[in-house]
Amino acid sequence: MRLENKKAIVTGGAGGIGRATCLALAAEGAEVAVVDLNQQAAQAVADEIRAAGGSAIAIGADVSSEADITRVVQTAVDAFGTINIVHNNAGIIRRTTALEIDVDEWDLVFGVNVRAIYLMCKHVVPIMAAAGKGSIINTGSGWGLKGGGRALSYCASKGAVVNMTRALAIDHGPAGIRVNSVNPGDVNTGMLRDEARQVAQEENSFLAESADRPLGRMGEPREIAAAVVWLASDESSYVTGSALVVDGGGIA
Ligand code: NAI
Repeated sequence: MRLENKKAIVTGGAGGIGRATCLALAAEGAEVAVVDLNQQAAQAVADEIRAAGGSAIAIGADVSSEADITRVVQTAVDAFGTINIVHNNAGIIRRTTALEIDVDEWDLVFGVNVRAIYLMCKHVVPIMAAAGKGSIINTGSGWGLKGGGRALSYCASKGAVVNMTRALAIDHGPAGIRVNSVNPGDVNTGMLRDEARQVAQEENSFLAESADRPLGRMGEPREIAAAVVWLASDESSYVTGSALVVDGGGIA
């Protein structure tokens, strides 16, 4: 049990990577607040954790809203007493170029992928700083490090996640707070299937392209969750500001 007595918030906790992280954190002993726009699905993940003997609550929230983030943090503190770990993981993708995306969609992507992280940090950093310790893990993307085709807002937003992680690490390291990003390649979740729809490509051929990397397959959510657990735990006590890539060797 690497996370005994730790209290965690996971956003996008009902989705592929978020659910896997919630289960993995709970399996290591953490109490978990499962946060998602889809409250019913978040509740199902919390129920799954409880059924396995863990401790979890579900909170329905839009992470791009400051009112919702305030409520999430307050609810988690009321339930658990404090917050030690945050996985800022909720994210959306729009497979559009600059010529195709409109301003509202651009703002939506940045609201969920970027503003939400700033808002969460604004509200949890004081709690972690008071304890002199905390670990924040932000989900970036391989496309936040190297770019990708027909996903301008997503690539820009994930690049922002990687660099805001470094800035947050610099600002709050002296308070004992570590901030890192985990950057997946293609992972077997609903987002990948949604992308296939958005680019109007047949799902199986789209997913097959995800296997075109040295390890010859796409990633599974639990493989991202394992990296998050490590970054959340004291095993990574000298790691901050880093961009950990978990992508099966998506080098090109
Ligand atoms: P997913 O679509 O399965 O999960 C995303 C979750 O975020 C969903 O449960 C959704 O309801 C929630 N969400 C969306 N907007 C929200 C909002 N405004 N407030 C609260 N929750 C909201 O996708 P997946 O793959 O699990 O994605 C998790 C993270 O991983 C995202 O940040 C994504 O960009 C990133 N990622 C995913 C990759 C992949 O291949 N699946 C690759 C690289 C990064």
